[in-house]
Amino acid sequence: MSDPLRIGLAGLGTVGCGVVKILQKQAEQIEQRAGRPVRITAVSARNKGADRCVDVSAYDWVEDPVALALRDDVDVVVELIGGEAGVAKDLAEACFANKKHFITANKAMLAHHGVALAAAAEKAGVALAYEAAVAGGIPVIKTMREGLAGNDIISVQGILNGTCNYILSTMRETGRSFGDVLKEAQDKGYAEADPSFDIGGVDAAHKLAILTALAFGVKPDFEALSTEGIESITAQDIAFATELGYRIKLIGLARKLDDDSIVQSVAPCFVPVKGALGSVEGVFNAVLIDADPLDTIVLEGRGAGEGPTASAVVSDIIDIAAGSCLPCFGVPVAMLKEAQWASADALTAGYYIRLQVDDKPGVIATISAALRDHDISIESLIQRGHDDASPVSVVIVTHDCKAGALQKALDAIAALPAMLDKPCVLRIEEGS
Ligand code: HSE
Repeated sequence: MSDPLRIGLAGLGTVGCGVVKILQKQAEQIEQRAGRPVRITAVSARNKGADRCVDVSAYDWVEDPVALALRDDVDVVVELIGGEAGVAKDLAEACFANKKHFITANKAMLAHHGVALAAAAEKAGVALAYEAAVAGGIPVIKTMREGLAGNDIISVQGILNGTCNYILSTMRETGRSFGDVLKEAQDKGYAEADPSFDIGGVDAAHKLAILTALAFGVKPDFEALSTEGIESITAQDIAFATELGYRIKLIGLARKLDDDSIVQSVAPCFVPVKGALGSVEGVFNAVLIDADPLDTIVLEGRGAGEGPTASAVVSDIIDIAAGSCLPCFGVPVAMLKEAQWASADALTAGYYIRLQVDDKPGVIATISAALRDHDISIESLIQRGHDDASPVSVVIVTHDCKAGALQKALDAIAALPAMLDKPCVLRIEEGS
């Protein structure tokens, strides 16, 4: 029989315990699939005495997680601590310095330090594996790096944050406000106590930076992303979306343009209700990849939580046990290109615009004149409100246009005396 693969596990929270559970319960099947036994030898977590739903008493307890990287009885370290830098990054670096494979669910660390870590792993001849970092249980990393290796990827887009999708879905189903549903998501444990990374789009942006690198063979660059969250979406916008045949989703999109530049954007968008992403509700994630010659594929599933995330970690463990050591972002680090980034303004799309205006004669005429002056064509227009009741909502759906031209029209519209509030402007992703 082959030697066992020996695991050091750092972090025994929800996902860490999920990994222990799978490795204990499915040991025989994992051994058959990996071609060798997989054993946890040592674990580390913040609180040794914490009440856990798994028994870790058979494993050595290590106070300092970084010490896992120094042990002779550890071949692979699984990092489930989190955080862009700090202990997680110290542990990764210690692993590569000591030629240990490293598995992580840490998207923030990869989005910010992915190139340096991938280079260190490559130099050490070990794997840096991270299936759990993007879209939890959905095997999107393996799909893009291996399944689509023969394709030219044109775009990758997805619902990459379950908390946002839960909030937007529940707002639509119940007509409740953003703040109200956010509180419920926190009470149910979906959103973090500090939910700013989720609702502000940062968590989705970390994941998108990784997908962009894999899709286009470029260095991940979180700073090149334009990121917008869902905080300003109102129940009224969601109702208008439904009326117009759309859903509002937080979409992470990376697309290669005709000049080979790449747009990376995370923003709430309109997507067709019957499209692949429009029908994804609740805490679910989904990724839609457009590739040549494959055409489009959609992967959908649970993007967070114990079982799904642990499932992704265990798939990395089995790959490493079976001898896999693929380049982190699909190609060796020296071949990763510096991307030529384009602003999201370069995208051509239709837009949903909601304006709060005084209900006075001539207001619509001045708004449409501003759009006309910037060559923006209106597809449809709705006004809702009562003659005596100011303000009223004016909703405009445009034909395809460039965001830059639309912004100029919106600047002119914002200067109109009848304008009462900041407009809500959402891109329409018809292909989603
Ligand atoms: N907080 C994330 C989400 C899961 O809501 O999807 C981990 O990235």
